[in-house]
Amino acid sequence: MKITGIAGLGLILTSCFNLSKTKMSKVVKSVWSGFVFCKTDFGADFKWGVAASAFQTEGAWDLDGKGESTWDHFSHKSGKIERDENADVSADFYHRYEEDIDLIASMNFKVFRFSLSWPRILPEGTGKINQKGLDFYHRVIDKCLAVGVEPWITIYHWDLPQVLEAQGGWTNRKILDWFSEYTEVVTLEFGEKVKNWMVLNEQFSFIAGGYLAGFMAPGRRSINAFFKAVHHSVLCNAEGGRIIRKNVPDSNIGTTFFTTYIEPVDQNEKNIEAANRVDAGINRLFIEPALGLGYPVDSLRVLKKIRKFYEEGDDKLMIFDFDFIGIQYYFRSVVENSVIPYIHAKEIIAAERGVPMNEMNYEIYPEGLYHILKKFSQYEGIRKLLVTENGTCILDQIEDGQVHDDQRIDFLKNHLYSILKAKKEGVKVDGYFVWSPTDNFEWDKGFRTQFGLVYIDFHTQQRIVKDSGMWFTEFLK
Ligand code: FCB
Repeated sequence: MKITGIAGLGLILTSCFNLSKTKMSKVVKSVWSGFVFCKTDFGADFKWGVAASAFQTEGAWDLDGKGESTWDHFSHKSGKIERDENADVSADFYHRYEEDIDLIASMNFKVFRFSLSWPRILPEGTGKINQKGLDFYHRVIDKCLAVGVEPWITIYHWDLPQVLEAQGGWTNRKILDWFSEYTEVVTLEFGEKVKNWMVLNEQFSFIAGGYLAGFMAPGRRSINAFFKAVHHSVLCNAEGGRIIRKNVPDSNIGTTFFTTYIEPVDQNEKNIEAANRVDAGINRLFIEPALGLGYPVDSLRVLKKIRKFYEEGDDKLMIFDFDFIGIQYYFRSVVENSVIPYIHAKEIIAAERGVPMNEMNYEIYPEGLYHILKKFSQYEGIRKLLVTENGTCILDQIEDGQVHDDQRIDFLKNHLYSILKAKKEGVKVDGYFVWSPTDNFEWDKGFRTQFGLVYIDFHTQQRIVKDSGMWFTEFLK
């Protein structure tokens, strides 16, 4: 159903007041559209959650038998992270998980998506299992279950054991065996208690950032390494799905993709083609092989080079029928034709376009989430979508012990409206997870940019629920 003008407004308002005893304060207005909506508009089965990752929050980087990860290694080198910060302690989730999960529950979220640290469980990458690592995640899972929050596990969110990187990491085809072993261990261990699983977090980000652009761990810059890592990650993504299916009865299996809404700077044919190439290299690169469509060489010829890394049977091994696809959306990208090798396209950054931006200089463009959901919903093989990450970083300041992050509230409302609009037009989108429950370590940006609904003073580890966290508490009541 398409919602337009006053009629649409009326429809939404009616459902807000009729389907639940919603108070006026829980009915919110999206600035983008001017529309008013409330939680019940998303449906009773819609999953409301928050998302975080092991490396960014846990700290305890070498405690209780944990091995070194690529991100520990990378962030301990000078010049890699802003202000040379590291995540050795970070949000200290390893010791404060109870408090943080209580906060998630108190904000009325019903899902906590978090990742497992591979080197905490298998310090040498393969082989010896670290019982203390498993025990920690059992405590986290049990705490979630005790307070009525569903644990949703991401198997891999970028922290590869450094010993495996020393053998080539994602560029070594043996990653398929290493990753399978790790996935076997965790699914057999936690599968009885945890039914919702995601295989990988954003292949595009850790492979392009880590093996091509080099600003992320492990800091390599090679097009060949990039292509190998792409292919191996595609195989692991599908294999991970198969292992979960085998080991966890009644599981709900997904994976997550980085997405950006890509537009050409104008309607010039060359710029339109440039936008198509970028779209193929980012939005289509990982979903299409998983669906059995192969790599999108039609729009980006250079991807043909991946073929040299194929082995017999790979075409089939790349495919897995995921129960859901996790969409992670933060910004729009505007591109034009250029001489840059391989991609022949260039991004016109938000600052040059004079559009609203966050602290990471990402454009704030809520409509983009609507377009991305529509785009992914057109793939026949996708059963349903969940927005597994969305959020924003602004300069949070404490005033009289409170954090008035109105801009974040506007951001969240507008993106929620984008989901609702897509949903009302028939897109199967069944959940929304905010990045992130608490402030944490933002990769190469260190602690400069923060996305939490809960503020953390990293000197004292004191937590303060921001106005955005309070907003959700009320909205989700
Ligand atoms: C995503 C990452 C997540 C976090 C957010 C801000 O791309 O998956 O770990 O860094 O960006």
